[in-house]
Amino acid sequence: MFWNGKKRNHTQKADRSLSPKDGNGQDCRDGSGSGQATLPPKEAMPRHIAFIMDGNGRWAKKRGLPREYGHKEGAAVIRRLTEYCGSIGINTVTVYAFSTENWKRPEREISAIMKLLRDYLNDALREMEKNRIRFCFLGDRSRFDGETRRLMQEAEERSVGYTLRLNLAINYGGRDEIVHAVNACLREGITEISEDDISRHLYTKDSPEPDLIVRTGGEQRLSNFLLWQSEYAELYFSPILWPDFSERDVDAAVADFCRRNRRYGAVDVQDGAKADS
Ligand code: IPE
Ligand code: IPE
Ligand code: MG
Repeated sequence: MFWNGKKRNHTQKADRSLSPKDGNGQDCRDGSGSGQATLPPKEAMPRHIAFIMDGNGRWAKKRGLPREYGHKEGAAVIRRLTEYCGSIGINTVTVYAFSTENWKRPEREISAIMKLLRDYLNDALREMEKNRIRFCFLGDRSRFDGETRRLMQEAEERSVGYTLRLNLAINYGGRDEIVHAVNACLREGITEISEDDISRHLYTKDSPEPDLIVRTGGEQRLSNFLLWQSEYAELYFSPILWPDFSERDVDAAVADFCRRNRRYGAVDVQDGAKADS
């Protein structure tokens, strides 16, 4: 992988070299497993990547396995890629793991996902000091059982001092989140609600907005994910099924992001200067 993207909005200062390692201790950037690649300048990197992890069921089906196996494999990929994102300087990773609409799935699949979640939380608690990941959960917790809620709270409380943040969106819906925020504003007695009022009541209130939203599995839609926060996020769609999504695929998404020109409704700096002269 070569970081040869040109991003017009950023000057090329503070170039960094780094050779991040994959789970096998191999260099995962240059395709040969032996060289070093240069990361884009720090200010060009996304600070926050959000993943819509899609394709677990199809991954299992392709192998003649029940869908649950895809979710198990998918959970392992969350662990690996969170660590990888941290190693390349991304400090917030959000993963869409279960939507408010996913309760429509067969009972057997839902139970398997809930069990996986408890296993994931137990592992995270056991390995907290080693992995140093800050856990935050986005979504309505009231539908989870007491044990799951307790594990979520413990993971959040015990990891509060770590800097690499993993937001796990479970029983999360973007519309539900906005309604929840508006109701919280009403309870505060606010009669004219501002954008800031909504933002400070979102589940993501203390995360930066996502710079890059990656959806795996080939669909090109948000499926009720981060509807408010995606305002100016860059979107990247990959046909790769989530359990097959690798460090190199993260590199490709980040490289693509670094070639984008984010104008936020304005014009390029140089075009603005020309128009004014
Ligand atoms: C994403 O994978 C994980 C969840 C929504 C829980 P899917 O289970 O949606 O996988 P596909 O899209 O059916 O392949
Ligand atoms: C989106 O995937 C939700 C998660 C990844 C948790 P879905 O598989 O539920 O989305 P649709 O139904 O294809 O839109
Ligand atoms: Mg799906």
